[in-house]
Amino acid sequence: MPHLGGVLNCEFSMSRLFDIGLERLTGQPAFSGVVQGVTAEGRGTFFLETFGCQMNDHDSEKVAGVLLSRGYRQVETPEAASMILYNTCSIREKASQKVFSRLGEYREKQSEGKIIGVLGCVAQQEGERIFTRAPWVSLVCGSASYSKLPEMIAQLEAGNQRVTGLDTDTDETFETEVTRRDNPWRAYLTIIEGCDKACSYCVVPYTRGPERSRASDAILREVRQLADLGYSEVQLLGQTVNSYTDPTPRGMRFSELLLAVADVQGIRRVRFTTSHPSDFEKGIVEAIESQPKICDHVHLPVQSGSTKVLRAMQRTYSRGEYLEKIAMMRGASRLIAITTDIIVGFPGETESDFEETLSLLDEVQYDNLFSFKYSPRPNTPSLTMPDAIPEEEKGRRLAALQDKQREIQMKKHEALLGKTFEVLVSGKSRRENQWFGYSTSHRVINFASQANKLLGTYVQVHVTGAGPNNLAGEQVF
Ligand code: 5AD
Ligand code: SF4
Repeated sequence: MPHLGGVLNCEFSMSRLFDIGLERLTGQPAFSGVVQGVTAEGRGTFFLETFGCQMNDHDSEKVAGVLLSRGYRQVETPEAASMILYNTCSIREKASQKVFSRLGEYREKQSEGKIIGVLGCVAQQEGERIFTRAPWVSLVCGSASYSKLPEMIAQLEAGNQRVTGLDTDTDETFETEVTRRDNPWRAYLTIIEGCDKACSYCVVPYTRGPERSRASDAILREVRQLADLGYSEVQLLGQTVNSYTDPTPRGMRFSELLLAVADVQGIRRVRFTTSHPSDFEKGIVEAIESQPKICDHVHLPVQSGSTKVLRAMQRTYSRGEYLEKIAMMRGASRLIAITTDIIVGFPGETESDFEETLSLLDEVQYDNLFSFKYSPRPNTPSLTMPDAIPEEEKGRRLAALQDKQREIQMKKHEALLGKTFEVLVSGKSRRENQWFGYSTSHRVINFASQANKLLGTYVQVHVTGAGPNNLAGEQVF
């Protein structure tokens, strides 16, 4: 699950967002009075770096919460920490390699007495093999075991050389009471963990385990708490968020849950990601139509425009069936922005299969696209499939796909010139009086305003400029 519409060139970085979030939750300025080594409570300090998707970002919020609640303190640099933790991603080989090269950079830190830990998908995938590949690592912990981290760290402090937490079938990750959220106005909330689909290229069912849904009453209780804390946007998360199956006798459907979350007083926007096409039902579109607080944006990964490739990917739908879901959204009374993920160069993908993917782009007119070169992953069925596509050819297809999408986005954005959108102000640019935020359809809008203290507020922006990746405008009153 990629980040949706990340903005890289803004001054208002995530670490600043984190400062504000922690300040509000604890009443203490974040990172103030950081002491190297141990805290006043005799606990260590930790540096936590996150690779990967929103699920990983949110998992790190849980890890930080668990450790902060037990008296550990978070610091901004590995140098200042007694524990260096990497929350990792293994979805593609490049992401996984990056983790090991980062670990290599911190090899000597272990000799300074620091604990080095690997969390997340690489931890789950590689397990104890990490100790062989990077013997300076002493902690390996998958996402289902984060609530046990303090106990695992205590074991290391008591003299154990190595500890692991590698269960995948628990629902411990829903324990979010102590979650320390990075962003003070938009809260991520996991409603379903793991994945029961079996896409032939994907490590997720292996690294995150089987699908487990969280009880609807617990979700709604937490949303009410979040609203009381001042969060106005809630983003419901899951690898297949719309496969949500309420385990309580209430048996809420996903669309009913969306409506119930939107009904919570103080909540102004509800987002959800990522949806799986096979479980995408009319009720979700009807919920978006009937409740303006549910954002007019659906991320619906297609992966390929060729039914033959979709079969090989074990995606459980054909091109035609996918297009039926698109038609359902296009027929809605509210305009719904649709974004997708595409993999190019899957084994056996011919030029004509790839052309079907290009023609799907023409047909659907996506609002944004996240595209990837196929990357063979351990333990996945596609690893041993014949007819691998050469890297160079994958690169050519990726570039062709991205060129086409850039044109589509440019045209779509030009059509929005002169319109006015409500924007949740999410950052300030380096340039004076320049801000940026997101519309409900998750478009990035840069805008000018003389006002102060706009962060986290909702403003109306009149669109005066369009680029392929964002819009520009001016605040209107
Ligand atoms: N190779 C390339 N892309 C992949 N994705 C998942 N697994 C792989 C892989 N092995 C992409 C899919 C998914 C997104 C999160 O990452 O497009 O939707
Ligand atoms: Fe991976 Fe497929 Fe599950 Fe998405 S639906 S997490 S691509 S197995």
